[in-house]
Amino acid sequence: MAEQVKTIAVLTSGGDAPGMNAAIRAVVRTALARGLKVKGIERGYSGLINEEIVDMYPHSVSDIIQRGGTILGTARCPEFVEPEVQKQAAEICRKYEIDGLVVIGGDGSFRGAQALARQGINTVGLPGTIDLDIACTDYTIGFDTAVNTAMEAIDKVRDTSSSHERCSIIEVMGRHAGFIALWCGIANGAEDILLPERYDYNEQAIVNNIIEKRKLGKKHHIIINAEGIGHSNSMAKRIEAATGMETRATILGHMQRGGNPTCKDRYYASIMGAYAVDLLLSGKTNRAVGFKNGEIIDFDIEDALAMKKDISEYAFEIAKLLSI
Ligand code: ADP
Ligand code: F6P
Repeated sequence: MAEQVKTIAVLTSGGDAPGMNAAIRAVVRTALARGLKVKGIERGYSGLINEEIVDMYPHSVSDIIQRGGTILGTARCPEFVEPEVQKQAAEICRKYEIDGLVVIGGDGSFRGAQALARQGINTVGLPGTIDLDIACTDYTIGFDTAVNTAMEAIDKVRDTSSSHERCSIIEVMGRHAGFIALWCGIANGAEDILLPERYDYNEQAIVNNIIEKRKLGKKHHIIINAEGIGHSNSMAKRIEAATGMETRATILGHMQRGGNPTCKDRYYASIMGAYAVDLLLSGKTNRAVGFKNGEIIDFDIEDALAMKKDISEYAFEIAKLLSI
């Protein structure tokens, strides 16, 4: 099996994340160094079924390790859930003599990789998402950059919030996952943190908290709201009406997905990219790469997808205590 792998391909899928380029670079250069041919598939699974496939050389990945986004482009490809489309994609892999495919993306992208593995294509998934919501790993490519981008932006909002003695609702990304919100909530010293996993829609509790903290002399009230809860502008109006404290909403949005990756994202994305190639070379398929207890490890994708991950209840409780 090991000697059969001659050509590998790499694609990025789902939401982009800073550090994806570092991972692509590592896949390409490790594979070339190991004597393989490498192909880049543009626009995720969409590009695969449309045969947007290019040869990759060492210089194809020059000057990208420091850049956000993904040079291969990414896309959502809803039709990839169809078995017929997956079959067709596997045929295209065979046509281009792709013996191994590295998929960089989130849980959804891993499901696509699993489907291709079932069609006989050797696949490895690398965790790429700013949301940190992949259960088999404590680290995902892009989270560190995104959470630092959000933290710095929230610091800036906090300055003006304190000067004007306002309440600020700052909405961070995370449709289904509150990791960015929780980490920023702690790192920015927020008075309230609203997580999709925990929020009970009891706005009165927030109002009471604001009134209480004002009595204690707080000059601002920072609420970190996760995108999954949303409605920050209307929430601001209601909170202002109920508390009498001027309230503004700031939605950070896609700025959190871009920007130069942090050292951590470049480092782990590079090591994981190389690891994925070596997994394929050792004859492995249908694997999801993760980082746990200080080590890069891999799981069967099915096992990885069956795992559950939740935010830390302890961290959530401590956050409340620290914002007194
Ligand atoms: P992420 O990979 O970040 O979780 P998505 O959930 O949007 O992002 O998934 C990215 C892409 O992966 C989808 O657009 C689709 O092409 C593919 N995908 C998602 N779910 C499946 C599935 N159940 N089977 C096959 N492919 C899937
Ligand atoms: O998965 C990353 C993420 O940024 C989520 O936090 C967010 O809900 C989603 O992607 C938004 O995706 P888009 O705006 O690209 O559809």
